[in-house]
Amino acid sequence: MTNTTFLQSETDDPFVLYRKMLSTHPFYWDERNRVWAVYSYALCHTVLNDARAVIPDVHATAPAPLSPAAMAIVKNLARLSNAPHHATARAVAMVAFEALRPVAVADTLSHLLDDAGDLSALDWVEAVAKKVPVQLLLRGFNFSPADVRVLSDTMPRLVKIMQPAKTPEQVLALNQCAHEVYAHVEQHILTTGLVKNILSAIPPSETLNTAEAMTMLVSNIIGLFIQSYDAGRGMLSNTLLQWLQRDTRLPAITHRDGLYRFVCETTRYAPTIHNTRRVAAEDITLNGHVIPKGETMLVVMAAANRDPLRFEHPDTFDIYRSNNDDNLTFGSGAHQCLAKHFMRRLVTETLVSLFDRYKNIALHTTRVTFEPLVNARIPAHLIIALKP
Ligand code: HEM
Repeated sequence: MTNTTFLQSETDDPFVLYRKMLSTHPFYWDERNRVWAVYSYALCHTVLNDARAVIPDVHATAPAPLSPAAMAIVKNLARLSNAPHHATARAVAMVAFEALRPVAVADTLSHLLDDAGDLSALDWVEAVAKKVPVQLLLRGFNFSPADVRVLSDTMPRLVKIMQPAKTPEQVLALNQCAHEVYAHVEQHILTTGLVKNILSAIPPSETLNTAEAMTMLVSNIIGLFIQSYDAGRGMLSNTLLQWLQRDTRLPAITHRDGLYRFVCETTRYAPTIHNTRRVAAEDITLNGHVIPKGETMLVVMAAANRDPLRFEHPDTFDIYRSNNDDNLTFGSGAHQCLAKHFMRRLVTETLVSLFDRYKNIALHTTRVTFEPLVNARIPAHLIIALKP
């Protein structure tokens, strides 16, 4: 009846399908794709908080073997691990994230815009959104300006590590850049002494020697870069797109607090991550149906964010919505995104800096196309005109 998995590049408005599914099939067995698609807020929340619904193996169907460095990253990332290993991996990712030195967004944005060339037709995605989050993280870990450039340029190839379906060419490119990035980050991290903090932060149930702790630390720091590039570019682009498409002269929206609210409502209304997957580690009963062990669930958080049973007038963009923070765009449960607050502030500060510098900002094209991804809605390009 309905194809629950589709490329975001192929639809102008995925919410047409989500609205229909919310009212007719909030929980649905999609025979063609062999997934249980979950749309309602209550059921998405339940699945994300159920320890028996586990993260699938992203490398199960890879067409070629991963190199040792790529394999270390896949095996150690918090985002891809399950209990009991996940608690350790998450603790390591958090220690690394908390060690970040704060870096001013305005400086990074100014450098990027100064190097961007023609500001009357600027591709915001290429010039800014793909670079700001990952460069802030790299600078926050004190990488040199040359390293920041090299490492941020490898991200488009490296992020393929998160995709379940990879081509042999992608695996080859991935293996090579994973090796280079891993060696680079490891050498830099050795100079920071951060591994000592890791050894004291891991849960008592898991014992790691220094070499294992180092592997986990390096892998999770690389994971932070990957995730900042992947979801970060979408959030920066979707928020600016919403701003340009709305009547943003409202005074509330042009000051910092109003912009912060605008960013938060955009994460609910026009999210970057639309869905995530889980596999039943044992039979799970959901809404009266048994999901047999081994079957996959597609948790459609973007649909849950517009569930009228959770959000009043869900299709209205309302920056004063009182329960906006309940939205599921950053996940929920054990795997909830640890950069939720960081990203909301980062996007707000980027827009504050942009609006301080340019008083006339316009969308250059009316039709925006999206990347050919199943799980995320990320503008492929966003061409804007900037004038002081
Ligand atoms: C600086 C940028 C970011 C970093 C460093 C980051 C980091 C992470 C990490 C480490 C996890 C795994 C947590 C765990 O498994 O314990 C995670 C999960 C997640 N992140 Fe982020 N993230 C970033 C940006 C974003 C953005 C912009 C979004 C969405 C707009 C997002 C959405 C998510 C979601 C949905 C999950 C949970 C996935 C699942 O449960 O399947 N992240 N993030």
